[in-house]
Amino acid sequence: MIAAKTLRATLMALCLAGAGNAQQAADTVAPETGKVEGATSGNPVISENWMIVAAHPLASAAGARVLGEGGTAADAMVAVQLVLGLVEPQSSGLGGGAFLVWYDGETGALTTLDARETAPLAATPRLFQDAAGEPLKFFDAVVGGRSVGVPGTPMLLEEAHRRWGRANWTSLFTDAVHHADEGFVVSPRMAASISDNAETLGRFANTREYFLPGGVPLQAGDLLRNPEYAASLRAFANDGAAPFYTGEIAGQIVQAVTGTGGVLSPVDLALYRVKERPAVCAPYRGYDVCGMGPPSSGALSVGQTLGMLQGYDLGALGPSSVEAWRLIGDASRLAFADRGRYIADSDFVPVPVQGLLADSYLADRGALLAGDEALSKVTPGAPKFDHALLWADDAAIELPSTSHISIVDRYGNALSMTTTIENAFGARVMAGGFLLNNELTDFSFRSHSAGVPIANRVEPGKRPRSSMAPTIVLKDGAPVLILGSPGGSRIIPYVAKTVIAVLDWGLDVQAAVALPHLVNRWGGYDVEVGTSAETLAEPLRALGYDVTVRDLNSGLHVIAIGDGLQGGADPRREGLALGD
Ligand code: DON
Repeated sequence: MIAAKTLRATLMALCLAGAGNAQQAADTVAPETGKVEGATSGNPVISENWMIVAAHPLASAAGARVLGEGGTAADAMVAVQLVLGLVEPQSSGLGGGAFLVWYDGETGALTTLDARETAPLAATPRLFQDAAGEPLKFFDAVVGGRSVGVPGTPMLLEEAHRRWGRANWTSLFTDAVHHADEGFVVSPRMAASISDNAETLGRFANTREYFLPGGVPLQAGDLLRNPEYAASLRAFANDGAAPFYTGEIAGQIVQAVTGTGGVLSPVDLALYRVKERPAVCAPYRGYDVCGMGPPSSGALSVGQTLGMLQGYDLGALGPSSVEAWRLIGDASRLAFADRGRYIADSDFVPVPVQGLLADSYLADRGALLAGDEALSKVTPGAPKFDHALLWADDAAIELPSTSHISIVDRYGNALSMTTTIENAFGARVMAGGFLLNNELTDFSFRSHSAGVPIANRVEPGKRPRSSMAPTIVLKDGAPVLILGSPGGSRIIPYVAKTVIAVLDWGLDVQAAVALPHLVNRWGGYDVEVGTSAETLAEPLRALGYDVTVRDLNSGLHVIAIGDGLQGGADPRREGLALGD
């Protein structure tokens, strides 16, 4: 079995903080935003029955245990998320939110669940503005209770298990409770994240004591226990998600938020619901690329980018061609222009979902790419819409954290879930042994521009627009690719490019995730430092782009379904694919 062998090697690499396992955990010693040698090397993990790809070896191992014992992808996801919240606390957890895409092996149905955080009823469009109505500085808004939305992740775990689980609920807690009670080894990435954020983590007593015991940041290799998290897990195992929304843990959350400048109330928590939304699918090269609709911009913006590229032969151009990246980069810019104007929580503002993905609209937008140089100006289009289009462009900022989980089980179910607490360590405020999100800073800080309202402004009970793009690609209704990534708004180009890498360029999933990144959202081209992509920097400049060479810290976790299963984990992070 591939699982046990690979896991042992990787855990050893993590514990010794030595050279990373060449294939699946190549960046176990990389700093938080670092690049990894050999990022383009390695083969996918291959299996027959099931596959899990997640961001930390202990999380993947928990999922593999559940899958190996006959659990479903939903069961495994619960075990994985509970462990991630402990061992990758900078990225996701019970204080955050997530989007889940589910392909049902029995019925062939695709379901998307929205467990996005929600603004408190006391929040107003001025939440992130000063007395003069000017936007706060980003980190002034992030750190402390003001940015905390009602967490969705606990209810999502319960809901996914209720809908699709087979395993005994309490059995899904074994790994997380064990690691919380007995301790786990702090990974290099977690240690680097703590060190990078030491000042803000030090602002709140319980967060400081946990991450900087005695005032010293935890180091890679330290053994860390979390008895408070273990207690929350036991309550969750015994009573389901209720304690997080109406019970003791809800009280702890409200106290932590209101004690640090926020306005969350018990009523906000009690009102929270996971929402089933219609999946958003876009055709590409004979496949259907499906994912999460509003309040996420993920599936719409990935679908728009790909849709505009349909008329261009990217396969013939290949990944080393500057022409391919001109097309991809400008398609992405056009999609981001629409995103900034039209996409927000569709329960609050009408979103032209059909119009944005209409064939004729994307053909017209795609025709704008027909030139030879960078587009000099990119503006939002006018998709077909039965509402007035009086929205101003938004001004939201997103910075790194977040985690993606891809799972296929032995029953033919597939799960793609991106999970987040938004910024690294969220609001830096802890309750019940876990960190609370700062997801509300995904709203536009400005509510209006020149008197015109912004679709993604803060409103009570609204969910902030996301870029998370958990994706399942279907061929004739059956799943062939499960993928997603962290990366803030760069998630959209990371996911679109990975779909292109597999479908147009024929790369296997490990080569596709390792392929150097080139990202364009608003005009400037980001090129991944230390990779072969740097050779495209000058040619892109010659086409008229402003180019920045920098770290591009994706965490793409991908499974391809063909004759068997192939799993690929992003070498830029600590993830691991396990299969059997
Ligand atoms: O929902 C979103 O789009 C963001 N809060 C995700 C943040 C993120 O991916 C940061 N990742 N590295």
